[in-house]
Amino acid sequence: MAEVVLPLTIRDLTRADLPSCAWSGSATHLASVARALERADRGEVDYLAVCPPSNLPVAIGGIDYTLNHGAGTLWQLAVLGELQSCGIGTLLIEAAERRIRGRGLHRAELGVEENNPRARALYERLGYRAYGRKPEAWDEEAEDGTVTRYETVCTLMRKELP
Ligand SMILES: CC(C)(COP(=O)(O)OP(=O)(O)OC[C@H]1O[C@@H](n2cnc3c(N)ncnc32)[C@H](O)[C@@H]1OP(=O)(O)O)[C@@H](O)C(=O)NCCC(=O)NCCS
Repeated sequence: MAEVVLPLTIRDLTRADLPSCAWSGSATHLASVARALERADRGEVDYLAVCPPSNLPVAIGGIDYTLNHGAGTLWQLAVLGELQSCGIGTLLIEAAERRIRGRGLHRAELGVEENNPRARALYERLGYRAYGRKPEAWDEEAEDGTVTRYETVCTLMRKELP
């Protein structure tokens, strides 16, 4: 087996990156990322990108500072499928936690779907603890343009940041 070591940069996601993020979800999802970037301009959220030397994002994720008082809430975390389970999601979450600390806040929050035990195990490994559950719903668009309402239940998790 051959091994290649690649340097990864973590920076803010920009509008120019959106066409290169189609791997992260549907057109509806990308529209919600675009709206998040508008909120980033207003300082309400940070949206991060992890990039190899090509400068094309292979992982993205947002931090919302308006959802939970005194905390940054991680959401829309996504790593390019072919590069999952290599530690990139861990890098992204650690960078998000540094951004939260940089705003003088001491807590990170997130919600993980109850049917996503692998992601939950990762968050627990990184020190997040479950404290509640919450129903969530959002629109999902199929490739033929059909939009359906997706309903789920999320486990709420949090981590104190020293
Ligand atoms: C959840 C997600 C963001 C995590 O990112 P990731 O890059 O896969 O996470 P990591 O690689 O840092 O850690 C996860 C796994 O890699 C392993 N791992 C971590 N560092 C590693 C390394 N250096 N080498 C090999 N494996 C490693 C972990 O033990 C863990 O094991 P698992 O695959 O059995 O779960 C990503 O998998 C993803 O986008 N999933 C689909 C969308 C999703 O579920 N989003 C979360 C919504 S809450």
